[in-house]
Amino acid sequence: MKILIAENMEEFDNLGASIVADVINNKNDATIGFATGSTPIGMYQKLIDMYNDGKLSFKDITTFNLDEYVGLEKTHNQSYYYFMHDKLFDKVDIDENKVNFLSGTETDTFAECKRYSDLLANNTIDLQILGIGANGHIGFNEPNTDFNSVTREVMLTEKTISDNARFFESIDDVPKSALTMGINEIMASKKIVLLANGKNKADAVYNMINGEVSAECPASVLQLHNDVVVILDKESASRIK
Ligand code: F6R
Repeated sequence: MKILIAENMEEFDNLGASIVADVINNKNDATIGFATGSTPIGMYQKLIDMYNDGKLSFKDITTFNLDEYVGLEKTHNQSYYYFMHDKLFDKVDIDENKVNFLSGTETDTFAECKRYSDLLANNTIDLQILGIGANGHIGFNEPNTDFNSVTREVMLTEKTISDNARFFESIDDVPKSALTMGINEIMASKKIVLLANGKNKADAVYNMINGEVSAECPASVLQLHNDVVVILDKESASRIK
């Protein structure tokens, strides 16, 4: 793992954006795996700035998002589909025909997950962007997920539901389950960039980097990948050796 510790959030966002931009500029039709959550928002803004400055085009890329809440329509302002369009896709020249999402509103969630898994099996992700949960989850692969897991429906842990309640009017509005890419599919990406900031991520970051490779901290599996860049701020890096 290559670990970069940013001096401030400006540098944090720029470090992430430059990795994404390099991958796309080296391969215009790259396949990029996107993550939602608060951590990458600043990086997405930097990518929009690069697009506005004429330094980056998204028009030939294919995208896959990591996960989606079960039960939220695309138009719901907390769906991950809405998030990605609001924070990045609607502000750049992305080709909507090349945007891939899990749908959280299919009655047959099993078939929906199989559809996505099959797509992933036929598309190698050149760069997967990840955040990390305070409990060490990646995507919505919660602690004790099998490293061989593929796309499926998962129940969210109480920790994740309470962490994500900040985005909803009340904790009761947070969906109880989600569809997520599996760890096996995340690990199949050629390159991975994981971003973490804030003190509440310090334990998860420590377990990911210095802990044993164990399903108790799903992100620790990244120790087994040969091209991972971890971008941290000083607080999230405060426990690592
Ligand atoms: C989001 C995702 C999650 C988040 C993680 C951190 O698509 O898959 O694993 O990356 O929960 O979320 P934030 O950035 O909000 O702390």
